[in-house]
Amino acid sequence: MDVIVAGGHGKIGIRLLERLAARGDRARGLIRNPDHAADLEAVGAEAVVVDLESEDPTPHLLDADAIVFAAGAGPGSGPERKRTVDYAGCVKLLEGAEALGIPRFVVVSSMGADEPEGGPEAMRPYLRAKAEADAAVQASGLAWTIVRPGHLTDDPPHGRVVVAERLGYGGTVTRDDVADVLVAVLDSPTTEGLVFEVLQGDVPVASAVAGLSGS
Ligand SMILES: NC(=O)c1ccc[n+]([C@@H]2O[C@H](COP(=O)([O-])OP(=O)(O)OC[C@H]3O[C@@H](n4cnc5c(N)ncnc54)[C@H](OP(=O)(O)O)[C@@H]3O)[C@@H](O)[C@H]2O)c1
Repeated sequence: MDVIVAGGHGKIGIRLLERLAARGDRARGLIRNPDHAADLEAVGAEAVVVDLESEDPTPHLLDADAIVFAAGAGPGSGPERKRTVDYAGCVKLLEGAEALGIPRFVVVSSMGADEPEGGPEAMRPYLRAKAEADAAVQASGLAWTIVRPGHLTDDPPHGRVVVAERLGYGGTVTRDDVADVLVAVLDSPTTEGLVFEVLQGDVPVASAVAGLSGS
């Protein structure tokens, strides 16, 4: 598989690239800071420098089988960058995928994106951006999957998660486990058209994702 990961130097993005490269996939990460390229190369991935806010990523997407959007403006940014990265950056990639006929599009969204106005006030611009990006993805003709993790941690992987369209409670999940979920999603065409939340749980990742899809 030839996979492009937006947010390639992000904490989830680089974990995902490392997993894909290790099993022999072509793993390309989109980064905006050229100084990050060596970190991607160290995990066996290719670095593609493109700023999703000021550039069109489309020419960099050629030949990909799948795109994973794992970029984000981050917690230190204001509402404007939530719009330009979490929403508009995702839509730019979506439009690029549509233009080039790249079939598969996977998004790292967030728990709470199903109901932005129900979140804490400070989180609402972020959740609105995620919700609008998710809606654009769902309205596309692509084979999309939207993954909505809870609060992310850098703890060692548990290997076990709980997934559901809506869990009804909050919690944490490690970035390593989310990266494993993303690999399982890329491997599971039956997750196409699904939106689901993920938290730490007691089901091995591959079984949890297979259970979701009913395969
Ligand atoms: N934090 C949480 O608890 C939580 C919960 C649920 C979902 N999420 C979402 O999960 C996703 C991945 O999280 P994470 O912790 O792995 O994120 P992260 O480490 O903050 O990585 C985000 C990446 O996006 C990149 N980026 C920002 N602006 C960009 C631009 N204009 N062009 C290209 N790339 C740009 C950043 O690049 P630079 O390194 O150059 O800044 C960074 O590498 C994010 O969408 C996040 O919102 C987070």
